[in-house]
This record gives sequence, C-alpha cells and structure tokens, in this order.
Amino acid sequence: MVTERLQPDALGLSRAAAILKKGELVAFPTETVYGLGADATNAEAVARIYAAKERPSFNPLIAHVDSYSTALDQGIFDDAARLLAEAFWPGPLTLVVPCASTCTVSDLARAGLDSVGLRVPAHPLAHALLAAVGRPVAAPSANRSGRVSPTAADHVLGDLDGRISAVLDGGETPVGVESTIVSCLDGVPRLLRPGGVTRESIEAVIGRKLETASEPGDNPVAPGMLASHYAPRARVRLGATTIHPGEAALLFGPNLPAGSKDAAAILNLSESGDLAEAAAHLFSFLRRLDVTGAGVIAVSPIPEIGLGEAINDRLQRAAAER
Ligand code: TXA
Ligand code: MG
Repeated sequence: MVTERLQPDALGLSRAAAILKKGELVAFPTETVYGLGADATNAEAVARIYAAKERPSFNPLIAHVDSYSTALDQGIFDDAARLLAEAFWPGPLTLVVPCASTCTVSDLARAGLDSVGLRVPAHPLAHALLAAVGRPVAAPSANRSGRVSPTAADHVLGDLDGRISAVLDGGETPVGVESTIVSCLDGVPRLLRPGGVTRESIEAVIGRKLETASEPGDNPVAPGMLASHYAPRARVRLGATTIHPGEAALLFGPNLPAGSKDAAAILNLSESGDLAEAAAHLFSFLRRLDVTGAGVIAVSPIPEIGLGEAINDRLQRAAAER
C-alpha cells in the first residue's frame, strides 16, 4: 500500500473524507496528537486500526465528532458531562458516557462496552474532516503500539508508512499530549487519563474533586494505562538532577544539571519552565533523543502541577520496565 500525504486544503480534505467513508485509514492532526482515523460505524474499518498499530488487544477507542450536538446523538450526558462538554469542547477532553439508543459507534470501537468515549477536537482540519465525513471517526494516536505518540506527519509516516491509506499533513500539533479522559457513568466523574485539560480546571467546572480511576478493580482500565504504552527504545531515568556521562538529557527549566557537558545530547522541554511548552515538545524530544542511540535518557524533575501531571504520567510509562 502506498501512503498518500494529503495537503491541508479543500482537495486534501475531500480526499481524506472519501477514503474514510470507503472504510480505509487516514491519519489526521488534532490539537493534541495525530489520530489514526477510521469510520467508527464500520467495524471492519476499525479492525484495520488495530492491525496497522499492532495493538496487543482490542481496547475501546475514542470516537471523534464535529460538534457537541452530534455527540448528543451518540451518548447520554449527565449534569457533569454536560458542564464539561460546554466548558471544554471543542478541545482536548474526552468524555466516557453511556451509549445512547441512537449510538452508531461500532461494538469493536467500544470494545464491547455499553459506554462510548467521545471527543470534539478543536483543530480546524480535524473539525473540517469530521464535518465532511458526517460520521464518528474512531482514532487512537497514529503510532505503532508501544511507540510514542506522533505530533507531526513525519512521525506518523515513520511508524505507519505503507500500512495506512493517507496522512493529512497539518504540521505540528500544538498541545502535544493526548486528551484528558473523564468518565461520567454512574454520577461519579472519574479521571481515567490526565491530558491536555488540567484536573484543576475540570474540578473548577464541576465544583467537586475528580475521583482517580487507577485502583485495581476499576473497570475498564484504559489501555493508555498499560505500563509500557509510551516507550522509547532507550531506558528512561526520571527525576535526574545530575547527568551521567553518555546519557541523553531531557531538561526542564533554566538550570543546567551537573554532568551536562558529558551528555550525549541535550534538549530542554522549556527553558523558562512553561509546562504547556514542555507538553508540546515532549514526544518529539523523546524521539529525537532516542534516535541518538544513547542507552539512557535522563529526565529532569517536572513539577506535578497543572499539565505537569500529564507529562509525568507519560514519562512514567516511558520509564516503566518492559
Ligand atoms: O488526544 C487524544 O485523545 C488522541 C487524539 C487522536 O484524539 N487519541 C487517543 O486515543 O489518545 P487512544 O486510543 O490512544 O486512547 C483512547 C483512550 C483509551 O485509553 C481508552 O481506553 C479510552 O480512551 N476509552 C475510550 N472509550 C472508552 C470507554 N468506553 N471506556 C473507558 N475508556 C475508554
Ligand atoms: Mg496512544
């Protein structure tokens, strides 16, 4: 299969929509990361996602739609879900809600659950594509399973060239970490995955603390929570305040740690200590340090506040034994 690179214009968009409607795969930019899209109503098309990614299991996928009103046809929104959709859509938030009777998202995309993960992305190309397709589009991050998420079309092609029909090239994605996932299923909003919308801003909107769904027994476990989901080839050493000779260094903030002059390579997520800038750089900088061939990527401590929670979550997965 030859993977087409589509330009972000009217022609590219109509081609991308036509390919999706045929049941083939198109990667497209969202404001978080590139998604690997398939018609969510077509289980065969959805199955191609798992094949292309070599995902180890059928996990529920996020169904992307063009507007909140379209989302209301797919899911049942309780008070918290309604408040969150109104506050953060379009944007980097996914809501897991009970399926509506009119839900068209295939069973496979929902991994057999009677809930559905819905998101209205803010990226103008994603929005235009979803409006043109006129159906929900299932889209996990457009990387092979276990690799870091792609924030540019070249990253997508590096992992999936020849395995998907097309990538819609919209340049770099601005947010750089995936959407925050909140489930609103039984009257108790739960944080399933930290991401582009901070816990603090969600709690401010719903006027209560979010439960965290990480204890064993909490079901379903999001596959983003597999310990080895975000994995560069190098070993990742967290909380590094000194750099050992030959390590690649991923820094944060203005200070140069001891040992930096003997590092194999150095990149700084944000010299000014801006967590949004750090999130936007995270995956591409991990990739750039990984291709240097260094055995270890040493990462400076990142504060566990705001977007720092999502960044640290991704880094802990990257560092997990595998
Ligand atoms: O930013 C993002 O969210 C990106 C872009 C492309 O939109 N997408 C993304 O999708 O990260 P993916 O497949 O890598 O992550 C989907 C997450 C999984 O952890 C999955 O378990 C959870 O959403 N999810 C989806 N539907 C669910 C459901 N019904 N119940 C529980 N979790 C669900
Ligand atoms: Mg992913």
